[in-house]
Amino acid sequence: MKLDTYNITSMMATTSSSSSSSSSRRSSSSSRRQLLEPLCSPVLVVITILVLSVVTVPINGYISSRPITTTAFARSKLDGRTSSTSSLLMSSSSSSSSSSKYKKIFVAGGSKGVGHAIVTKLSERGTEVVALVRSEKSKKELDKIDGVTAILGDAFDQKGVENAMDGCDAAITTLGGTTGDRRVDYEGNNNVIESAGILGVQRIILLTSIGCGSSKEAAPPAVFEVLKDVLEAKEKAENILMDYYTNSNWSIIRPGGLVSEVMTGQAILTEDNKTIGSIHREDVADLVIKVLDSTNTERKILSAVDPSITSSVAVEGKVIPAFEL
Ligand SMILES: *[C@@H]1O[C@H](CO)[C@@H](O)[C@H](O)[C@H]1NC(C)=O
Ligand SMILES: *[C@@H]1O[C@H](CO)[C@@H](O)[C@H](O)[C@H]1NC(C)=O
Repeated sequence: MKLDTYNITSMMATTSSSSSSSSSRRSSSSSRRQLLEPLCSPVLVVITILVLSVVTVPINGYISSRPITTTAFARSKLDGRTSSTSSLLMSSSSSSSSSSKYKKIFVAGGSKGVGHAIVTKLSERGTEVVALVRSEKSKKELDKIDGVTAILGDAFDQKGVENAMDGCDAAITTLGGTTGDRRVDYEGNNNVIESAGILGVQRIILLTSIGCGSSKEAAPPAVFEVLKDVLEAKEKAENILMDYYTNSNWSIIRPGGLVSEVMTGQAILTEDNKTIGSIHREDVADLVIKVLDSTNTERKILSAVDPSITSSVAVEGKVIPAFEL
């Protein structure tokens, strides 16, 4: 099985309880989700666990101090868009309720996970969103959200990305993973960055991961080895942004291990490049929206973790200096 960001973040993810494994989680749009769909079958789940355990055991060992149960694992494989949607419904809205100085935001990667949570939260506070999506199904689903226009397109197609972004005054990209044999982590993100440059969209937020660039040492070596290709591809996109877009108001956000649970509201950003830990997808989305409107975060690279989540990778008792938004 190919390791891609989606699978890896799922592997890195842990669940604190085996609460509701609702059937709604089965509805899916991305082809990757469809690939994972058959794994819902209990028999296949067991097989998959056996196959993947070689990789997941060391990662989960680092990321979580809690044992991974079969339920938790199967659940984490299927989380993403639908589960983050349900957690959005369950939680009260975030603190990002004031309106933004940006009126129309382009989001790449909005069909699932953190990207989807960002789209929903922007909509909740009345900001217009243009979301670039790959499948008809995602388009249909996102178009139903207030103020969201989903545009069918391919992140590998620079011109298509540019056309979709035209008219937006900020761009957020959470792209990651593979389509066929191509990894979108560098190419897709690079197309978003390049399009923003061409169109003069000055506010760009790129979501990567702890373990990229200056945060390399934060990732335990075993985790880094497994995620190496993904991290290096994301790092390349980071470098393009930092090296060539010096006049843009970019921000790079590097979340730790992603978990799909209801937001805690306790997550923080930090400039400390040695920080590692876990964070719920919805908290990442909440922070990204705060970053959008914070001029302090312009041309900054920030790691995002949740000190309130128990995580064996996090250095116990370490005080993480929180970045002032
Ligand atoms: C970018 O930042 C500069 C100063 O840091 C500011 O003058 C400018 O208005 C910002 N542009 C946008 C689009 O936020
Ligand atoms: C981490 O951050 C510190 C302080 O800003 C900096 O001196 C150091 O070079 C960074 N580490 C890496 C690997 O870039």
